Amino acid sequence: RGPGRTRAVLPGQIGVRDAPGTLRQSIIVPTYNERDNVVALLERLAAALPHTETEIVFVDDSTDGTPEVIAEVARDYPMAVTVHHRDEGAGGLGGAVVEGMRIARGEWVVVMDADLQHPPEIVPGLIAAGLRDGADLVVGSRYAGGGSTGGLADGYRKLVSRGSTILVKTLFRHQLLSVSDPMSGLFAIRASSLDAGQLRPLGYKILLELIVRNRPGRIVEVPYTFQPRHAGESKSTVSEGLRFLKHVGRLRLGSGRARMLGFGLIGLSGLLPNQAMLWALVSLAGLHYAPAAIAANVVAVLWNFALTDQILYRNRRERRLPARFGRFFLLGNADLLLRIPLLAVLVDGLHTGVLAGNLLTLVASFLLRFLIAEKLIYVG
Ligand code: GDD
Ligand code: MN
Repeated sequence: RGPGRTRAVLPGQIGVRDAPGTLRQSIIVPTYNERDNVVALLERLAAALPHTETEIVFVDDSTDGTPEVIAEVARDYPMAVTVHHRDEGAGGLGGAVVEGMRIARGEWVVVMDADLQHPPEIVPGLIAAGLRDGADLVVGSRYAGGGSTGGLADGYRKLVSRGSTILVKTLFRHQLLSVSDPMSGLFAIRASSLDAGQLRPLGYKILLELIVRNRPGRIVEVPYTFQPRHAGESKSTVSEGLRFLKHVGRLRLGSGRARMLGFGLIGLSGLLPNQAMLWALVSLAGLHYAPAAIAANVVAVLWNFALTDQILYRNRRERRLPARFGRFFLLGNADLLLRIPLLAVLVDGLHTGVLAGNLLTLVASFLLRFLIAEKLIYVG
């Protein structure tokens, strides 16, 4: 099956044409009322890229007939084209790109705007740079040496662009060390480094989301000059800017320092079931404090695991549930090896109360357990 064959129309898709077996690149183009741009875009992409190794994936929220214009061109177009039209209205640029990533089949997934502000001729250069430098992610940058914000219409937009770049470079310093243009909407990522399932973008900025959540290994940049919009109007708004700030806040909360706080709070909350269980077993059931402390610990570990796994590490689980649970359970109870002898010293030797002694041993083991979870259960 070569290009030129038209595949049956799928729900939500029109103008679908099959791509051949292996694809070097998928070009994802989000479109929201871009009917006056897509023809020129397709022409320039066809001139710039090998026809048999490329597919173009439009993810469209338009109400101006953009999909029909694309379908018209796609009939005689030399490359595979998919239009994934969504009926729910403007679903957001970031979400549209993620949907395209789910459909894309190329070894490289390239994202670019439809309005020709990103010159299509740069795509081969993005992928060549990725291959040459062994990179997982190649960012088209207006701020790298040789790049320019040329087409940013006015001083206000330049200011917003510069300001938001500085903001995210500060908040995500480590992740963005090699990225001068984190607000860029032009980039190429190796499909093998892409995990669309982890991405929950809010609004416009998909690249930052991708870097923070997918954590691609090596990132390089290719400079380019941002062009003036070919036709139509920009869809970015002030409320889009506010949504961006919310997005940044949410991404930031998923990071290390906030996690440590969450871990502490969950650990603290585990004191409650632990002490309550111990009290019930010793005072009500008349059990010896040692087996009672063990049982109370098991209950608290279950409690902690449920909260840690479902809330704190919800978006960054690298192992399957049984593996996560097994490790958490073993390590969570392993501190009994330390805590029970310590408890014996406290209760039998120093004559503290059982509950007070238990509390002391819990506090002592808390820091140790955070380090273990961070280093052994969730990371790497
Ligand atoms: N499917 C879909 N849904 N596409 C959308 C939506 C949406 O809700 N909103 C915007 N788009 C598409 C547009 O049709 C266009 O192809 C692309 O996303 C960029 O939208 P513009 O309206 O042209 O945005 P911009 O020029 O302000 O912003 C661009 O420049 C920034 C750099 O300053 C975007 O590329 C940003 O990603 C980029 O960072
Ligand atoms: Mn634009």
